[in-house]
Order: sequence, then C-alpha cells, then structure tokens
Amino acid sequence: MANFDLVPDLKIGNIVEVSGTTIRIELSGDVTELTRSHEGRVYPIGQIGSTVKIHFGRRLVFGFVTLLRMRSEELIEQGQPIPPEADQRLMEVELFAEGVWQGVNGTLKFTRGVSTYPLPRQGVYLLTRDEAVDLYKSAEGQLHDEAIDPLVPFATYVGADSARCRANIDKMFGMHCAVLGSTGSGKSGAVAALLHSVLEHKPNGADLCRPRIIIIDPHGEYGQAFGERAIVYRAYDPIGHEQAQGEAVKLPYWLMSADEFRLLVIGKTEFEATSQNNVIYKAITYARLVAAELVDPSPSSYGGAAPSDGGNPDDPRPKAGVQSQQIIEFDRDKPRPFSLDELVNHITYLQGARAKGAVLERIPDGDFTKNFKSILDKLAILRRDPRISFLMANWETAASPSLAQVLTQFISETQAGDDSKKDIRILDISGLPNEVAGPLAGMIARLMFQYKLYQTTDERKKDPMLLVCEEAHRYVPDRGEAEYATAQIAIRKIAREGRKYGLGLMLVSQRPADVESTVISQCGTWLVLRLTNQTDQQHVARFLPDGLSGMTKALPNLAQQEAIFVGEGASLPARVRIRDLTSNQLPRSQSAKFAEGWAGLGLSNAELDVVAGRMVS
Ligand SMILES: Nc1ncnc2c1ncn2[C@@H]1O[C@H](COP(=O)(O)OP(=O)(O)O)[C@@H](O)[C@H]1O
Ligand SMILES: [Mg+2]
Repeated sequence: MANFDLVPDLKIGNIVEVSGTTIRIELSGDVTELTRSHEGRVYPIGQIGSTVKIHFGRRLVFGFVTLLRMRSEELIEQGQPIPPEADQRLMEVELFAEGVWQGVNGTLKFTRGVSTYPLPRQGVYLLTRDEAVDLYKSAEGQLHDEAIDPLVPFATYVGADSARCRANIDKMFGMHCAVLGSTGSGKSGAVAALLHSVLEHKPNGADLCRPRIIIIDPHGEYGQAFGERAIVYRAYDPIGHEQAQGEAVKLPYWLMSADEFRLLVIGKTEFEATSQNNVIYKAITYARLVAAELVDPSPSSYGGAAPSDGGNPDDPRPKAGVQSQQIIEFDRDKPRPFSLDELVNHITYLQGARAKGAVLERIPDGDFTKNFKSILDKLAILRRDPRISFLMANWETAASPSLAQVLTQFISETQAGDDSKKDIRILDISGLPNEVAGPLAGMIARLMFQYKLYQTTDERKKDPMLLVCEEAHRYVPDRGEAEYATAQIAIRKIAREGRKYGLGLMLVSQRPADVESTVISQCGTWLVLRLTNQTDQQHVARFLPDGLSGMTKALPNLAQQEAIFVGEGASLPARVRIRDLTSNQLPRSQSAKFAEGWAGLGLSNAELDVVAGRMVS
C-alpha cells in the first residue's frame, strides 16, 4: 500500500460539524478502543497534537488534534440531559494544510492553509508514521542547489518515527520568537538546544555557522551550557566569590538618550516635573557639547563672569572657532560621551546661578532647593551605588572606553577558519535587583538597536543578531513602574522594528501574561512547552496565529521537553520533542537538592561568620 492511499482501516470517525478551520469529529467505535493497529504498528487515537487527514480523492486536508472529550461532558457543560448513547467521543481538529499526493514520484505537494473545506459526514483518518514523515519532509521543503540552508534541526516530531523537526531560523529569528512554559518544562533546555543546533549548523554545507547572539541571563545558567563558545559578562558581583566568573561589563550612562537618562534620574514624569525634565535636558546637551569641544566647560564655583550678551547664564555659547550653527544642529540624543561632573556643574553653577552686575551668584536657597536639589541628590545616590558602577562610572576623556570599545564587548571581529570562536555573549544579571536589571537590559537592547540602525544595508546583511531575553517578565513586564521603562522602550522598539534591521528577539518566560504585551504580540514563532496556568494559556491563545489558538488546550499535558511549535519558523504546526542535551550542554540547574544538602553537617560557625561578613561588606 502506498502512502496517502485511502485505507478504510485507518478511519477513526466522521465529521459532525465544520466551522471555519475548526472541525468536530465523532469517533467511531466505543470508548475502550483507544488505539488502532495498522501494518504491525499501534497508533493511539485522538492524541492531542497528533495529525489526522481527510481525503478528497488525491487531495488531502491535514488537521491537528486540539481536543478530545466525551459527548456526555459536553452535554453536562450545556446543562442538557445525558441520554444512554452519549458515550461517544468527540474530537476537535484544527485544519492547517493541504497536500496532493503525487504517486508517480512519491512526493507530497504541500501547501499551508486550507482552501477546500470538508463537509459533515466525511471520514477522518489516522496518519501513519511513514505518511507523517513524508508530510513533515515536504512541509520543510527541499533545498535548492547551492542555496544557504536556513533549516536547523533542534527537535523531533512526536508520533512520526522521530523525524527531525527543523526550524527556519531566517523566519524564526527575523520575525522574533517566544519560548514559553511553566517552570521546569524545559524552556532553558530548549533555548540551549536551539542555540547549540545553530552552532552546529553548516548553512552552506561546509562551514559552521557564525552566529551573533546575546543572551540576557537572569540566573547565570548559560555560561556552563556554552563553555568555550561564549563570553560571560557580569554587571555586578554581589558576593564577590565563586560566581565572579565573567568579565565586568561596561555599559556607560552616556549611551542613553537624553530622555532615557532623564528617566533614570527623575523617573516617570509627575505633573510638576516638566521643569525638572528641562533641567536634565539642558545639562546633558551642555555636557555633550563640552565633551565634543564645542563649548567651554561650566565653571566649578560661583563668582565667574556673567554673560555679556545678556542671555541666560546656562545657554550654550560656541567656543572660539566654533560656528553657532554647529550648536544649533547638535543632537543631544546621540550616544556621545559626556562627563557627569560637567552635568552637575552645569546644573549647580550655571542653571543655579543668576547675574549680579558682572558676576554670577547663586540663586536664593529656596529656589535652588525647589528646582535642583532633588535632582542633584538622586544623581549623587546613583553615582554612589556600587551595583550600577558599570553604568555610572564617570566618563573621563582618556581612561574611559570609547563607543567602539563598548560595542566590541558584544560584537567582535570574526576570524576566518577559527572554530573556537566565542559567538555567544552572555550578560549574567543574576543577583541584581529589578531596578538595576531593568536599565541594564534596556541599555544592551538599545545599544544593539542603535548599532543596527546606523548600519548600511550591506553591513546589516553580514551582521544579523539575535537577542535572547530569558525571564523576560522580570525586566520587560506588562506594568508601568519607572524602573522598567528603559527596557520596555528599548525592547519594544526591537519588537516593532528589529526585523527591518536584522535584529531578532527571542523571548523566554514562564509567565507570558506578565510580559509586556506589545512585545510578546510581535512574536511570529512560538515554541510553547508545558504550560499549566490557565491565565497564561488563554494569553498565549490570544497571540497564536489564526485558528491555532485551540492548540493551547494541549499545553497542560505536554511532557518535559515537549512543545507545540507553530508560526513563521515552523514548517507546520506540530507537537515536537526538543533534542536531548548532555549535562555540559545544558544550562546550570536551578533546583536545590535538599536531601543531599541535609545529609551532611551544614556550615560551621566559622563559615557562618564569613557569610555574615559578606552580608555587611
Ligand atoms: N533538552 C534537554 N535535554 C536534556 N535535559 C533537559 C532538556 N531540557 C530540559 N532538561 C531537563 O529538565 C530540567 C528543567 O529544564 P529547564 O530547561 O531548566 O526548565 P525551565 O527553564 O523551563 O524552568 C533541566 O534541569 C534538565 O535536567
Ligand atoms: Mg529556565
């Protein structure tokens, strides 16, 4: 018997209702009959996530089982009496594709979407394993000669003899993707599996992939998974002991636009805060002009000469040899360095000064306190906070890193023929409170976006990048607190516009309902592992492509490492099992081992003393 022949043996039921691409099927046979044997193989019937087919001569329509239940359950739900014959099983199927079997060359011509709709009473058939393999193969398509292969195998199809499931990384990363699932469902394992598969992939058939991937890693778990292939950066080491692996990252404040810097210092605008915002905007512009050597530095005391042009003391005035046009055209938002000392001086000694005769004197104390004190205090607090010294270390001309040096932390030159290259950059933000993790994630996202924005089309082509946001709900939550604003703005921007510039997002979260909704709704590909929380399931259902929302019903029942894979990057919606990784390819496990820990003696008083010392040091 050839594949895709109509085999009466494989029929499992009849259609009773068709509404759009959702069909309902009444299974034949009684409840006890949960499997079907065919050519020596046993097939389970109505497995959620399995594929079924409907024949129209040589044409076939394929669907994905989303629900299986008893007729009686449905009647109870509708509040109707249950007749004795209500022990049939009902199955709901989401139609997703059509195919034509070309017996001559033994191939299936596959098209996504459905144009021929089945009718009630039509039969529904199981897909044999061989047919499933054919279906997946033709859905993934064959590579044309000499083409670059975007298909990366990272999982197997469930119920298809372990046929390999390949993700189209052009579509998956180009149009953003989400990896979702409850804690322990295997999200981090799935991310590592995907990235390892990318590292092992040979797009041109000969040479290994040279990906540019940045992972924001709130648990410090990915360093172990990529060993030699990654560089780990740390923002801050709260404990100063063994976890201090990794280099100190530099993401200076001057990468921020005036508005972002204002958000960091003042926070969300309150009603009387516009004048405060202007204090910051004026000071940043001035400090950037000073660093660009277009104006003279602010004084560092009162008593200097008042401007002779009668204007405000704090106005920028071109230095000798500089055209005033250069000052007018100066863009205060570009990531040009500036000194925080200069910023403070501008606020204190120019904005906080007035002309008295020919000299500048301090404005009355009341005015100074009202307008400037809280800003200067907040700035001083930020500058003293050791947790954010990666951000707030003052820029000083010679010693400070340049923009190019900041960038090469994340994007370094690719050496031909060097397979030991560290393609993956991990930003370990474990131990950081959210008010620090937020701006940090925001800074890196913004830096990457800006970098892409200023590339030519040609440069972009050579340099696509992926930003992996693990535990995205932690720093891009769907809430409005000020500490998240930087990250929300930056990551939202990538979500909306990143695809134009070759900057992809991979969002990973166990609480999809808590992730910023603009960001998550932009994802084109979904890898959803076991998800038990109902709110989260419903949330995911809202974002899945048309008709596939029914698949979320399968989510609570998935095994560890199993997932529903749908969207742009998937050849067809399918239930897949993520490939197995070895322990040194897996992210570091989070779970504490109580039995093991309690089996021994625990810490001595001397050891406890050391911990106490760390807590206050
Ligand atoms: N691809 C995989 N290969 C082997 N083991 C895995 C894989 N994915 C997950 N696991 C196992 O499952 C455990 C939990 O997975 P993890 O990815 O940490 O879950 P999550 O990130 O969703 O909380 C891991 O510690 C690991 O033992
Ligand atoms: Mg995880």
